[in-house]
Amino acid sequence: MRLLFLGDIVGRPGRNVVCDALPGLIKRYAIDFVVINGENAAGGFGITEAILNDLIDAGADCVTLGNHAFDQKETLVYIERHDRLIRPLNYPKGTPGKGATLLKAKSGADVLVINAMGRVFMPDLDCPFRSIDAELTACALKQGADAIFIDFHAEATSEKQALGLFLDGRTSAVIGTHTHTPTADGRVLPGGTAYISDAGMCGDYNSVLGMDREEPINRFLTKIPKSRFEPAFGPGTISGLAVDIDDNTGLATKAGPLRIGPHLEPALPEFWATA
Ligand SMILES: [Fe+2]
Ligand SMILES: [Fe+2]
Repeated sequence: MRLLFLGDIVGRPGRNVVCDALPGLIKRYAIDFVVINGENAAGGFGITEAILNDLIDAGADCVTLGNHAFDQKETLVYIERHDRLIRPLNYPKGTPGKGATLLKAKSGADVLVINAMGRVFMPDLDCPFRSIDAELTACALKQGADAIFIDFHAEATSEKQALGLFLDGRTSAVIGTHTHTPTADGRVLPGGTAYISDAGMCGDYNSVLGMDREEPINRFLTKIPKSRFEPAFGPGTISGLAVDIDDNTGLATKAGPLRIGPHLEPALPEFWATA
């Protein structure tokens, strides 16, 4: 099975580049399942139902969230209607929506997607390690699901690496999000779990984390907010991780960065072309 994950979509540049490129990528590389983090898709803050539907129409099988999950208040209501939109699992009990979803890939395989949030330099949620462990006990790889994908939305690389190794061999992939900056450590861990500390963002990289540079620079210089953060408006670059999964074991055989756009090197669709 071929799984593609794309990191946090930031604003219109991120949405445009993903919606333009994704249908062609799915066709060209015969991608079976696509997960996208959409927590910054609506002007940098949350996701509206209309944007969610656009991403699903473009080929997203599942959209994950993070600390910006409910920045758009409508999400508190419409998330209950959507199987393909999940928010971090370890939010307090009673939070609208769910943190895990079992979906069919194009191949017919059952894919369990789990979204969880870290706790280092982040809101103090329930323990992500124990929350995910409980889900995997209820729905283990090759018992409850043919493939299991984790979006771990966290700040600290140490917490992400610890979770990757904690779950190594029990999930197909553990992919970090939230920092909007891709890391170069994408690989398959010894136990067979594809891992990267951060998938990066889909947006304009000539920015501060996808936001227009002016206000972030002002706040670093003066400590006085002057205006709202607005997404940078230049052309977007796609950043994510491509993963090949062995259908028999549900574990990863190969993982590599997928980057398309003007900002990041390598601009690689060659990853799958050389398989
Ligand atoms: Fe984000
Ligand atoms: Fe985030």
